[in-house]
Amino acid sequence: MLSQKTIDIVKSTVPVLEQHGKTITTVFYKNMFEAHPELLNIFNHANQSRGRQQTALANAVYAAAANIDNLGAILPTVIQIAHKHRSLGIMPEHYPIVGENLLGAIKEVLGDAATPEIIDAWAEAYGVIADAFIGVEKEMYDKVEEADGGWRTFKKFTIAQKVKESDVITSFYLKPVDGKKLPSYKPGQYITIRLNIFGEKYTLNRQYSLSQAPNEEMFRISVKREDECTPNGKVSVHLHRNLNVGDEIEVSAPAGDFYLDTESTAPVTLISGGVGLTPMMAMYETIAKETPERQVAFLHSARTRKHQAFDQTLRDINESLPNSTYEVLYSEEGDGFINAEFLSKYAIKGSDVYVCGPTPFMNAVISALHEIGFTDDKIHFEFFGPAEQLELVQA
Ligand SMILES: Cc1cc2nc3c(=O)[nH]c(=O)nc-3n(C[C@H](O)[C@H](O)[C@H](O)COP(=O)(O)OP(=O)(O)OC[C@H]3O[C@@H](n4cnc5c(N)ncnc54)[C@H](O)[C@@H]3O)c2cc1C
Ligand code: HEM
Repeated sequence: MLSQKTIDIVKSTVPVLEQHGKTITTVFYKNMFEAHPELLNIFNHANQSRGRQQTALANAVYAAAANIDNLGAILPTVIQIAHKHRSLGIMPEHYPIVGENLLGAIKEVLGDAATPEIIDAWAEAYGVIADAFIGVEKEMYDKVEEADGGWRTFKKFTIAQKVKESDVITSFYLKPVDGKKLPSYKPGQYITIRLNIFGEKYTLNRQYSLSQAPNEEMFRISVKREDECTPNGKVSVHLHRNLNVGDEIEVSAPAGDFYLDTESTAPVTLISGGVGLTPMMAMYETIAKETPERQVAFLHSARTRKHQAFDQTLRDINESLPNSTYEVLYSEEGDGFINAEFLSKYAIKGSDVYVCGPTPFMNAVISALHEIGFTDDKIHFEFFGPAEQLELVQA
């Protein structure tokens, strides 16, 4: 239990940390990786370079500190982060390393302003926050390990099939090397894949949504080749160019809190941009298999026909369902973007909405959903990177 004094100190220093938040976490990562280079086998270097992870961690620490006497209020955020941690194999023994380096960075950046009293209060608060994460993560590890066909951290899989789905997206069907059947998962969840690439010093980890309804045989991921950027995407390009049927990678058990509520039969609208359609594929297929009467709209935006994956599959599913619509816009072929006008026509009124795509796409779509009357409790979304703050446009 934290004393009232500690709580007061922590809460009153949140604005100071917010002001220096990014500097503190940048110093923190630099110091931590110098002292513990082995952690570079876990962290995503591209996210580090682009400052995305720094922002995500800073936001999480402020949110936790501001709610330090009532962490239950941020439980959904803790659960979302814990899913990511669990999929990456983060362990309790990692927490003191983060704590020590975070406090060190606070001291270094704030200088004399970080009195021993403030540092002690933050050390105590960090302990409470870390325990909350460790507790939630332990439950998650236990649960995935105990599941039928489950495992705790990573397990070896073979690429069983490699299928080109569009000019930029290729699917990989993954089978466990031990031949056991796979655990079920919730449509919308992702796995972390872990691999070594020749010439790379550290192991690389990336998340990929499972792009089909659960089955006992194989996982399927569908990966966009990130080669229109500098530097080129390391893992996606390696998967596309160098990995083939028979090659092995390590895979975590499915994770994530962005998934279709399969207990419900309420109407659903699935909205995706580009490769953001992967979790929606799993959701749409699951509806087709389990609740074909359910009212569903699959709304998608792709750059061109050649960029789009799964068009024929989507048409087939749509035709097989009595209460489904499938609409796609090709932005570079003159169809425009998904906006309020389009959504007021095709999004099902009062439905649960799932959104996934690039960050600017999500900002635009969620702003448009608000404009036409959808409330936040109906809108679920997933970032294909560390969670960011949405920058919504007011109507
Ligand atoms: C929950 C979740 C689900 C996902 N599902 C999918 C999915 O189904 N399909 C899919 O294709 N992707 C998915 N992703 C994204 C995926 O995890 C990878 O981020 C993506 O494949 C890119 O990885 P990469 O290794 O190819 O690129 P990276 O090497 O990680 O590079 C990513 C970007 O960072 C830039 N970058 C790298 N280094 C630097 C630097 N030093 N300075 C500046 N910029 C830099 C690159 O130019 C590139 O634009 C998902 C992500 C999450 C979090
Ligand atoms: C209380 C302490 C911690 C907090 C508040 C925290 C917060 C976060 C947040 C907000 C994210 C981004 C989640 C997302 O993808 O949306 C994240 C991801 C991550 N965290 Fe933590 N974390 C903590 C402890 C740790 C520890 C101890 C480790 C291991 C050393 C760790 C390793 C990671 C990694 C590897 C990622 C993914 C990074 C990436 O993809 O770039 N975290 N964490």
